[in-house]
Amino acid sequence: MKRLVSLILLLTGVLPLSAKPARESMEELTSRVFALAESQYAAIDAALPEGTFPKSVSKDAVTTEEATAWTAGFYPGSLWYIYLYGKDGRIRSLAEKYTRAMEPATRSHISHDLGFQFNCSYGNALRITGDPGWQPVLLEAARLLAGRFNPVTGVTRSWNFSPKGKTWLFPVIIDNMMNLELLTEAARLTGDDSFRDIAVSHARTTIRNHFREDGTCFHVVDYDPETGSVRWRGTHQGYADGSAWARGQGWALYGYTMMYEKTGEAAFLAQAETVARMLLERLPGDGIPYWDFDAPEIPDEHRDASAAAVMCSAFVRLASLTSDRKLSRQCSAMAEKQIRTLASPLYLACVGENAGFLLYHSVGNLPKKSQVDVPLPYADYYFLEALLRWNKIL
Ligand code: GLY
Repeated sequence: MKRLVSLILLLTGVLPLSAKPARESMEELTSRVFALAESQYAAIDAALPEGTFPKSVSKDAVTTEEATAWTAGFYPGSLWYIYLYGKDGRIRSLAEKYTRAMEPATRSHISHDLGFQFNCSYGNALRITGDPGWQPVLLEAARLLAGRFNPVTGVTRSWNFSPKGKTWLFPVIIDNMMNLELLTEAARLTGDDSFRDIAVSHARTTIRNHFREDGTCFHVVDYDPETGSVRWRGTHQGYADGSAWARGQGWALYGYTMMYEKTGEAAFLAQAETVARMLLERLPGDGIPYWDFDAPEIPDEHRDASAAAVMCSAFVRLASLTSDRKLSRQCSAMAEKQIRTLASPLYLACVGENAGFLLYHSVGNLPKKSQVDVPLPYADYYFLEALLRWNKIL
């Protein structure tokens, strides 16, 4: 009888914790991930040819790219985050080295990605060390980004190209919301409100033109630069023009959460809340989205850990900004679920694996069959940021 009672208590979870393995606390999980990151990210450095940055992995080896690539700033950015957590001097030296190596990209920029490139590298360097020596390059990048603004469209131009078969005149992608943080930083540092005004104009115009009734957003909106009218809406990296490309929804959630935090404009918070409610409704049980919410073969489609990481970092921040208590709890619960899934053996590498990256299973551009089910530097970056935010270190 006693054994039967014990069994019932064990199964119902009432028995003392000692009878079951204890659940890893979020502090323990964070410390485990950052210990891994320290060793993996030092190993990446050892494998990189001088002047290059990690792009992904092929045949068990790190692949590389130049400072001009849109993702180059994430490696120094992650090194700054790893330094912020562990205060290891060797990691700081690497962060400094790879941040400085980004500087040539100010002379050959070809898109809006200056925010990703320079806010993650120089921006974190400045915020984490407080050393004003990092400021001039950051501000130069902000000036270049501001130069892509057109007062007629009210937005900054994303790309200078049109893909085969299309004639875009002034394409703006939802990803560009992320680059606005560089402009808000420039306004804060210089006191020049024109940077902030451009960011606000871009975010307001994007609410009007990128979003659908159901809270999802288009990837690309092409504007007429002479009249400001919308010429075309569709996708470049998603499944279909009308689908919800997962990382794009992540950029939207993060972008509006960040813009509310930087400006206090209520419409930006409302937009972030709308996107969050849509995501909470549509994310799978483990919190990791398929690469496109409308991909036709779900559940036999690829997951995208990078989209999960972006959303996760934004959910943590939105949970502390929204005054809707229920939504705040839901955002926190989703972020914890995403963190625990990403930190599980399903997604997280072991020491010495994955050519130094942390996370497996991201998708870069599936329609182009490029970077499908691979590690990507921005997946690691936003995952580390989510952990720092969760632990209130950031
Ligand atoms: N910013 C490009 C991408 O998210 O793939």
